[in-house]
Amino acid sequence: MEGKKRSSQGEDDGQLNPMLSTRQHITALPGLILSSSSVYWGLSKDRLHNVAMSNISVTYSTSTTYNNHVLISGLWPDTTYFYHPSPLMKSTSTDIFNFTTSRRAGDNTPFSAAVVIDLGTMGSLGLTTSAGAPVTSTNILRPGEKNTIDSLESSLADFDFLWHAGNIAYADYWLKEEIQGFLPNTTIQGGAAVYESILNEFYDEMMAITASKSYMVGPGNHEANCDNAGTTDKAHNITYDSSICMQGQTNFTGFKNHFRMPSDVSSGTGNFWYSFDHGMVHFIELDTETDLGHGFIGPDQTGVFKGFTDVDPVNATMNAQITWLEADLAAVDRSKTPWVVVAGYRAVTNRYNNTDDTCPTCKDVFEPLLIKYNVDLVLSGHSHVYGRLAPLAEGKEDSNGLENPTSPWYITNGAAGHYDGLDPLQSPRQPYSRFGLDTTNATYSWNRLIFYNCTHLTHDFVASNNNTVLDSATLFKARTCSERSEHH
Ligand SMILES: *[C@@H]1O[C@H](CO)[C@@H](O)[C@H](O)[C@H]1NC(C)=O
Ligand SMILES: *[C@@H]1O[C@H](CO)[C@@H](O)[C@H](O)[C@H]1NC(C)=O
Ligand SMILES: *[C@@H]1O[C@H](CO)[C@@H](O)[C@H](O)[C@H]1NC(C)=O
Ligand SMILES: *[C@@H]1O[C@H](CO)[C@@H](O)[C@H](O)[C@H]1NC(C)=O
Ligand SMILES: *[C@@H]1O[C@H](CO)[C@@H](O)[C@H](O)[C@H]1NC(C)=O
Ligand SMILES: *[C@@H]1O[C@H](CO)[C@@H](O)[C@H](O)[C@H]1NC(C)=O
Ligand SMILES: *[C@@H]1O[C@H](CO)[C@@H](O)[C@H](O)[C@H]1NC(C)=O
Ligand SMILES: *[C@@H]1O[C@H](CO)[C@@H](O)[C@H](O)[C@H]1NC(C)=O
Ligand SMILES: *[C@@H]1O[C@H](CO)[C@@H](O)[C@H](O)[C@H]1NC(C)=O
Ligand SMILES: *[C@@H]1O[C@H](CO)[C@@H](O)[C@H](O)[C@H]1NC(C)=O
Repeated sequence: MEGKKRSSQGEDDGQLNPMLSTRQHITALPGLILSSSSVYWGLSKDRLHNVAMSNISVTYSTSTTYNNHVLISGLWPDTTYFYHPSPLMKSTSTDIFNFTTSRRAGDNTPFSAAVVIDLGTMGSLGLTTSAGAPVTSTNILRPGEKNTIDSLESSLADFDFLWHAGNIAYADYWLKEEIQGFLPNTTIQGGAAVYESILNEFYDEMMAITASKSYMVGPGNHEANCDNAGTTDKAHNITYDSSICMQGQTNFTGFKNHFRMPSDVSSGTGNFWYSFDHGMVHFIELDTETDLGHGFIGPDQTGVFKGFTDVDPVNATMNAQITWLEADLAAVDRSKTPWVVVAGYRAVTNRYNNTDDTCPTCKDVFEPLLIKYNVDLVLSGHSHVYGRLAPLAEGKEDSNGLENPTSPWYITNGAAGHYDGLDPLQSPRQPYSRFGLDTTNATYSWNRLIFYNCTHLTHDFVASNNNTVLDSATLFKARTCSERSEHH
């Protein structure tokens, strides 16, 4: 097992703790193969008297690290725990991290959550103040401009957890960044090392948040792209395709290795579809990339975009995701979790007249269920723009608008930031579009969801450079809230 190196900074002990009130997964000590991984934990920094262990240490052939997964169970809801991931109980205070478990379902305490989609690596391997030749100047950061990771770090007090619903790190941009003269050129064979270094750099950068917040993830196309979406090297007249794929990029391999979402306890599948409760909200992550069911082929599956991504379904059971979604929605106890919020990487409904960016088959399979079960809010990304729509069903806007609609409300924010910057909105915008920002006027940003009570939910678009809210809208649902129930 020698020859495997720790990830870039050698400092990344412990992160990424998908939450559930009674359990917490820790990805500990990337970089070391451990026959037994241990996490020391407790209710205060100086009393890490409990130890959780596992022998789950996973990697793949082109990886430079191991992912050691440890599950801690028997935790209280809404409680801050401290932990130290180490094979040995030796620590300095800088090695001690913390997380706060989710609020019990039915706890009506107001809270906020942060959401990002399409967030890439920042700095010298990704989005920074310079870029490769074809990237326009509006897409780079201004000197001193705070990026989205900086903004989230400076806002830790403002959200309970971070939900990153697809396109994590953009490590597959390595080849594009080389062809555009941003990174030094390597060979295709040497690309795996560059790919892995970008992934590890991203995980290190995210420690600013994951050292104390739960980080929930879902699949986007760049977790499976192998060729930077059909990159052409004009100098050598080569258009790359999936023949250059390396193992970390195929079949979501890196994504499957690094994360552990709570699909086992929500009957979902891997990091692809799952649900969890937090206070008065039931959150659902969907997979818009594969496994759409009803005979539809997901946009990342083999044969759809030739040469882009050639992914097999992640669950062999026929219609597994759609069957799960209906069962999950039908089981929601709205007296405990009146709000149901769904995120899936690609937009389920047309945001703009941009057929490239939407997923018509996602609409066909998911929208009927989102309508039938009165889902309140649906979030997506993929298009690197911000677009807030009216609540709508089957392309028709709800006549109630945000005042007690019966249709789901749709918001796309793919403007968290990555090497390639932002996209233009297509014109004309759909009549049900309420607010839009694109490359001409957008800023890198994240979403803040504020759940006040069972009737009021506010969505804020937060500009990363100055933490200013550039768009805010509140959804009202006429329903009777159950008695306010405080946690323990
Ligand atoms: C890992 O631990 C489980 C029990 O927790 C055991 O069944 C399994 O054999 C172990 N695997 C290895 C490779 O040691
Ligand atoms: C890398 O190769 C591309 C063409 O394939 C070229 O345009 C670029 O300048 C090269 N970059 C470096 C740093 O050599
Ligand atoms: C949790 O960790 C963060 C990051 O290190 C730190 O800022 C925060 O104070 C810690 N929380 C508590 C309650 O100690
Ligand atoms: C580029 O390659 C294609 C075949 O892949 C060839 O048809 C074309 O003529 C080449 N173009 C140039 C400018 O060499
Ligand atoms: C993806 O995984 C499937 C097994 O699920 C395998 O048959 C296929 O070869 C894999 N594709 C690639 C490109 O590795
Ligand atoms: C596939 O979905 C079924 C339920 O439809 C579930 O029982 C099974 O665990 C899933 N498979 C994986 C690999 O998660
Ligand atoms: C969408 O764009 C197409 C052309 O690309 C145009 O024919 C059509 O009218 C547009 N639809 C709307 C609703 O703007
Ligand atoms: C931003 O620019 C786009 C056109 O590119 C326009 O559709 C949109 O309304 C503008 N947004 C604001 C808030 O001005
Ligand atoms: C719910 O929160 C909103 C926003 O703070 C407030 O205006 C409203 O009065 C609250 N409703 C109840 C029933 O507490
Ligand atoms: C914050 O940044 C945005 C986007 O660059 C800008 O439109 C806005 O005016 C700024 N607000 C303040 C208060 O500086």
